Amino acid sequence: MDQPKDQLMSFLEYIFKPSVPVFIVGLLIVFIVPVIVHYCITRETPYTNLPSILLIGPPGAGKTSLLTLLERGDNASSTHTSQVPQSVELTVSTDGGVQSFRESAKEDAPGKHKKFLLIDTPGHGKLRDAAMKRLTAKETPRGVVFVVDAAALDESLATTAGYLYDILLTLQKRMGTGKTSRAIKEVHVLIAANKTDLFTALPASLVKNNLEAELGRIRKSRSKGLLDSGVGDDEVQENDDWLGSYGSEKFGFGQMREFDIEVDVMGGSVLEGKVDKWWEWVAERI
Ligand code: GTP
Ligand code: MG
Repeated sequence: MDQPKDQLMSFLEYIFKPSVPVFIVGLLIVFIVPVIVHYCITRETPYTNLPSILLIGPPGAGKTSLLTLLERGDNASSTHTSQVPQSVELTVSTDGGVQSFRESAKEDAPGKHKKFLLIDTPGHGKLRDAAMKRLTAKETPRGVVFVVDAAALDESLATTAGYLYDILLTLQKRMGTGKTSRAIKEVHVLIAANKTDLFTALPASLVKNNLEAELGRIRKSRSKGLLDSGVGDDEVQENDDWLGSYGSEKFGFGQMREFDIEVDVMGGSVLEGKVDKWWEWVAERI
């Protein structure tokens, strides 16, 4: 009966008496435990927790060119049609105001530094899944930059607006489902009207008007498809694929505010390095 008690006593006596093995075990605990705790914490918060900005849009609009310019500070000699998403880590420096992307990139730039991930995605129709998934991922991007070729919009308006419709609708639905559970964050979308260096390029205001008109047409034709198939009688179903204010005659980006989606349209040119307005927009989202 007394045996376990005796064993315990002798054990306690052993560890409280200064001896070399006990001293070594004590030292090991003191030094190794913090290392293990540090490892566990850093493993759970990897650097991918950086805020991210998603580059998305039709093929050939200039997404990869923009990423390269912001990363290296000069224009890429050539880009290829992207096949897979790629991301780079960039830094925004603010010193009173937002510094230009060239200044921000310098290690010794004064002021506050904030890091973020810029994610480029392929524009080809068959490779869009990865980009669309990121819109609804748990770590949603802080901002979505939809790059369009302002000089080729006349020919590509239908396909460009089709892609934009899918993106905005996905974001709109995400807001709809989030309402019941957790607090929903605002989503910011920038439509970057690129290639304004070309004389055929439309100004940002026209890019906006044309896209709004085309999105309105798409909305009408998609809901008509539903009506024809008889699904239209079920209002919930019909509501599902309707972008913006339900039942409104004309579509405008302002309608997306109902769903906490803010849309801006700004012109620029990667070729001429005129991307400062876009950079400032990104900096405000980080
Ligand atoms: P995908 O990867 O296919 O989705 O295309 P992307 O959006 O990444 O386009 P990319 O950056 O590869 O650019 C396509 C072409 O547009 C390249 O030949 C660029 O040199 C050109 N380009 C990009 N920006 C500009 C610009 O501001 N002005 C002019 N004139 N050309 C540009
Ligand atoms: Mg690309």
